[in-house]
Amino acid sequence: MCGIVGYIGPQAASGILLSGLQKLEYRGYDSAGIATVLEAQLQCIRAKGKLHHLEEKLASWENPAVLGIGHTRWATHGKPEEHNAHPHRDARERLAVVQNGIIENYRELREELKERGCTFRSETDTEVIPHLIAEKLEGLQAKGDPSLLEAVRQAVNHLEGAFAIAVVSADFPDELIVARQQAPLVVGFGNGEYFCASDTPALIHHTRTVLTLENQELARLTTQGVDLYHFEGNRVRRPPRTLNWNPVMVEKQGFKHFMLKEIYEQPGVVRTCLEQYVDSNWQPGKEKSPIRLNLAPDLTANLENIQIMACGTSWHASLVGKHLLEQLAGIPTVVQYASEFRYAPSPITANTLTIGVTQSGETADTLAALETEQQRRAQQPAHLQAHLLGITNRPESSLARLVPAIIDTHAGIEIGVAATKTFMAQLMAFYFLAIELAYQRKTVAPQRLGEIIDGLQQLPAQLEQVLESQERYVETLAHDFVETQDFIYIGRGINFPIALEGALKLKEISYIHAEGYPAGEMKHGPIALLDAKVPVVAIAMPGTVFEKVLSNAQEARARDARLIGVTPMNEQEAKETFDTLLPVPAVDELISPLLTVVPLQLLSYHIAALRGLDVDQPRNLAKSVTVE
Ligand code: M6R
Repeated sequence: MCGIVGYIGPQAASGILLSGLQKLEYRGYDSAGIATVLEAQLQCIRAKGKLHHLEEKLASWENPAVLGIGHTRWATHGKPEEHNAHPHRDARERLAVVQNGIIENYRELREELKERGCTFRSETDTEVIPHLIAEKLEGLQAKGDPSLLEAVRQAVNHLEGAFAIAVVSADFPDELIVARQQAPLVVGFGNGEYFCASDTPALIHHTRTVLTLENQELARLTTQGVDLYHFEGNRVRRPPRTLNWNPVMVEKQGFKHFMLKEIYEQPGVVRTCLEQYVDSNWQPGKEKSPIRLNLAPDLTANLENIQIMACGTSWHASLVGKHLLEQLAGIPTVVQYASEFRYAPSPITANTLTIGVTQSGETADTLAALETEQQRRAQQPAHLQAHLLGITNRPESSLARLVPAIIDTHAGIEIGVAATKTFMAQLMAFYFLAIELAYQRKTVAPQRLGEIIDGLQQLPAQLEQVLESQERYVETLAHDFVETQDFIYIGRGINFPIALEGALKLKEISYIHAEGYPAGEMKHGPIALLDAKVPVVAIAMPGTVFEKVLSNAQEARARDARLIGVTPMNEQEAKETFDTLLPVPAVDELISPLLTVVPLQLLSYHIAALRGLDVDQPRNLAKSVTVE
């Protein structure tokens, strides 16, 4: 979604803003712009399309301004055209605003402002904000007390929706005002210089000292420091924190794309998760859990139900989670599309753990679903009260502030829009949670828990082996599919969500139509799509449904489909069934999704790269979907 950056300090702002916007490109956008203040004048330059168009416009512009804001816009209201790009200005062009989010009551505000004589130059919801602030400033000026901070404070109190804004004014050349209501905004502390951004990658090259704004907070940044206030006007005092990232983490480090780098980081991510959450000295029979999630006992005691809210890839990880929680811990689990749950919540069930899964921790639908759950259970008796847990890769995110407990997935920042290593880390979180609950409830023999943990411990080496042995091979194989228009992915049991995830990865980055199905469902409809032009990717791992998947694959072969099998290297029957193999080590079926997803990530990546597409920033997509 949109990206905001802002700067005030001794250096020329435009270069800092531009490089900050480059670091936020991963969020997805279709136009960009910056506004700076110099010698009591506002300059604003905007461009449709990718940042290089803005860069070209800025190239011939000598701009020593030391105060400015910048924006990458992901179009919601109004097409991605220059006149809709941010920053937006008031009628007198004295102040400029950038916004991330949606102003839900913009229609009413726009009509009111028009009635009072405002002319609008864009179709955006954002443009009401500079006009409103200008009106408030006029009112304050008339009273002899002009204050940009106060004008912004009064204006944001009229706005409904989820938004973060940054504001500069030619009449207030020594300050930058920022405000947040349910959309992320971080302030960075430098030495006599201050920054703001939608996300920390834009700040990490300048400072690691940051302050995340809470909902209904606004701040004034000057070269002297940062003053924080509540929307009601009272001063707030909160110390900044130090990020434990370094600038190298947001570089490609020799890889052609962030997505490939992130696929390669997966063995390390799994290693980190194991170090973090597994007691390496644990033995079956020990009177303590093998898992160290440090969850409060009342969060997991007496559970009768689990419900999981998520979107996209996180939803797929949650389906694997459901399988584990039901099969290991014996707890009935439902996985909800967060966007559906908010408007049609299921009836309230007793003693229920609600888990929100979101790598970014900022997905508006997931946050809203969790809030719905929290609010509707607030007045209920004890057994119906909300018990909320978050699984996220961003422990500083809105999710982490919303729920009382989180499992931090420790995957490190993921820049590619297509989730890969964060999916792997979400899966690990579900394995740990399911093992922990199985241990607490004694639903699985300690010996079997030991086997599963041993299996997980082998994973980093096995993942390295898959990456080493398959990357070149998959790259070559991808040539066969550069012109393919449709793909079908099938899997069963714990690997059905991997079929969904394989299909999502392919469509997201290669724009090839792809569908995932439970293998047994194919004959109930999708089989009508099959012919020699539609490859079928089947995930067939030895275990409860191995033979069934092979039979389903045979049904596809009988319709001339080219069959690609994700299956262990030495499975004779699988070798005879599939035209092409994407081999993975033979592992316990229960932990196989952690391996079977990797060849599918590689296949999607190489097809998209061969098609010459923008793998890391696929069209229309955003890394962090902060609007409904
Ligand atoms: O940040 P989240 O995990 O909440 O994001 C949810 C989806 O928007 C996300 O998984 C999306 O589907 C990705 N593009 C998947 O690659």
